[in-house]
Amino acid sequence: MKLWGGRFTKETNQLVHNFNSSISFDRRLFRQDIEGSIAHATMLEKQKIISKTERDLIIKGLSDIKDALIDGSLEISQEYEDIHSFVEAQLIQRIGDAGKKLHTGRSRNDQVALDMKLYIRDEINNLDDLIKSFLFTFHKIMKDNTQTYMPGFTHLQKAQPVTLSHHMGAYFEMFKRDRSRLSDIKKRMNTSPLGSGALAGTTYPLDRDYSAILLGFDGPALNSMDGVSDRDYLIELLSALSTIMMHLSRLSEEIIIWNSNEYHFIELDDAYSTGSSIMPQKKNPDIAELVRGKTGRVYGALISLLTTMKGLSLAYNKDMQEDKELTFDAIDTVKSCLVLSDKMLSTMKFNKDIMESSATKGFINATDAADYLVNKGVPFRDAHSIIGRLVLMCIDKNTSLEKLSLTDFKSISPVFEDDIYEAISLTTCVNKRNTIGAPGKEAMMKVLALNEEYLSSN
Ligand code: ARG
Repeated sequence: MKLWGGRFTKETNQLVHNFNSSISFDRRLFRQDIEGSIAHATMLEKQKIISKTERDLIIKGLSDIKDALIDGSLEISQEYEDIHSFVEAQLIQRIGDAGKKLHTGRSRNDQVALDMKLYIRDEINNLDDLIKSFLFTFHKIMKDNTQTYMPGFTHLQKAQPVTLSHHMGAYFEMFKRDRSRLSDIKKRMNTSPLGSGALAGTTYPLDRDYSAILLGFDGPALNSMDGVSDRDYLIELLSALSTIMMHLSRLSEEIIIWNSNEYHFIELDDAYSTGSSIMPQKKNPDIAELVRGKTGRVYGALISLLTTMKGLSLAYNKDMQEDKELTFDAIDTVKSCLVLSDKMLSTMKFNKDIMESSATKGFINATDAADYLVNKGVPFRDAHSIIGRLVLMCIDKNTSLEKLSLTDFKSISPVFEDDIYEAISLTTCVNKRNTIGAPGKEAMMKVLALNEEYLSSN
């Protein structure tokens, strides 16, 4: 079933058909293909290229095909090369000669470029909704945990105390940026390829502005060769998706560490973890591991498309058909990873006592002890060395700074007074850090208010 049989004298070899055809994956573009065709037919009539009767027949025929595909009464047949040929053949079968006029002033090159843009625009909206609901989950955990102390790490070693609210706030920022990246892409890609034809426009008096507006674009692509061969926005999308996966993967890694027996900071919900077929005691963080693992295939899609595009002369080349499977797979992967990460995070239990007691170990208040001395006039370098010696003493006595006696403190420096205990308590260490962006309660409350405003207005 071909659109281009006229100049051929032989049937296509079956292997060639299979290799060339894209219908097994571009079938998911049927809604967009029909939407684009309806706009094209509407414009053709406005320009008096087809009659009103023909337009109405075409639109009715296309809508019927769409309904039949959705309700399952019509199946997409693999014998067609692609979704465009399938829909057109169906239309001709249903309405006869008027159907043969639909492709006037159009090529599959601008048609597929259009379909893909319409599809991606919708998927960007879907991705945005998922990230937004994920942000609500982070926001809730943040609001509930401004006083849940935990160790903050550098080099995966305890560094300074933070709160769970503050830790989750870092992810809030990451996913907020991911949303804004997606919205930038949506703005930049919003030009219509329709009317670019095969590569050099057409001789018909098409109104490209009109069809662009009908389809919700800002306007037509201003160069027809670029119109049919621009895949930049897919590369930008795959890059943004890779960044989302990188963020999800970092979160997953933390969940895996926190879920380990050694940390035990969290308890995964039974519904979002899995067991072992041999070890009855196991409760594994498979979801987090899979999200971390699937990051590789999304990165792969980005590198793959960059490589496909790098050697292509203008304008359309069949290589570009390779943009679809990997983009669809990357979008599907990111969407399922977002949904599952959101569910896993919103159902997990935080073992707050364990987090807090972990924050009291590991000399996490050493910086604050040094700051205490600085506030009493000791130069920072000297303070650093004094606290270093106290840490050594603690290691020797197998204790922690806040448990040393005042005599111990004074044996290293006479500057220490009774107020040292208050100065290095966990609460003080966290809540004194109140510059904006820091974990102190006051600073966190300001950020929470800003986040709330962001969530209600974006
Ligand atoms: N299946 C093709 C693709 O995805 C559609 C465009 C075909 N154009 C052509 N001249 N063969 O790129």
